[in-house]
Amino acid sequence: MSTKPAVASAPPAQQTLSVPRHIGVIMDGNGRWAKLRGLRRTEGHKAGVEAVRRIVELASAYGVSCLTLFSFSSENWRRPPEEVSFIFGLLRRFVASDLDRLARNNVKIRIIGDRETLDKELRRIIEEVEATTAANTGLNLVIAFNYGAQAEIAAATRVIAQKVAQGALAADDINETTIAEHLGTHGLPDPDLIVRTSGEMRLSNFLLWQSAYAELVFVEENWPDFDESVFVRVLQTFTERDRRFGGIGT
Ligand code: IPE
Ligand code: IPE
Ligand code: MG
Repeated sequence: MSTKPAVASAPPAQQTLSVPRHIGVIMDGNGRWAKLRGLRRTEGHKAGVEAVRRIVELASAYGVSCLTLFSFSSENWRRPPEEVSFIFGLLRRFVASDLDRLARNNVKIRIIGDRETLDKELRRIIEEVEATTAANTGLNLVIAFNYGAQAEIAAATRVIAQKVAQGALAADDINETTIAEHLGTHGLPDPDLIVRTSGEMRLSNFLLWQSAYAELVFVEENWPDFDESVFVRVLQTFTERDRRFGGIGT
């Protein structure tokens, strides 16, 4: 028997929503949003920043504890260099314009992804963002930048192998927790929900290890159109899912 509250016929505002502890978002469709309006792709990325501001507010307001946003993948280097440098510029400008407000709003920011291949200035900005918000206790905002899940797992494997080689760890003691502790998301709960905008239905190398039991929700809206109505619809879909984790459910 289901233990879910019988709210199916209630209007959306009165439905009890399950709020995921951790939401991961694949923010896709900036280019298509721009193209539909006869604009350059870069305009879509700019509009996407507004949607980032909206979802951070929404996540805080709805009591989400962790929000991970996929903002640049390790595969996105395949794009034209002008677009790549525009996206990098947007990150710099976002930090310059929004860091103080996020810090005041108790948001704790972590950036995951490969830092080694980023320029020194960007690495400095990343360190500054994390240091400025390190003591905050509100929303955990994780930005996946220059991030690829397979590269993340490979990097974790290298560190674990070094520990085994140095005798600090026994090979027989490596388990799921060992791997999780060596990923960029160490210490954070696994995502309960992964959302992808723009109608694409794939993970594109996002949080592959961590999303083992995440609910996947795909919406048609392009990322710059993401707003509270889309957010609530996604939470409704999540609320209706029966998460069984390999068991037989409720
Ligand atoms: C998502 O939008 C932003 C990044 C991947 C950086 P896209 O730029 O992928 O937009 P589409 O998929 O081409 O429409
Ligand atoms: C995934 O979107 C990466 C980000 C949202 C940052 P892409 O647009 O790069 O994914 P593919 O290439 O369509 O799979
Ligand atoms: Mg895309």
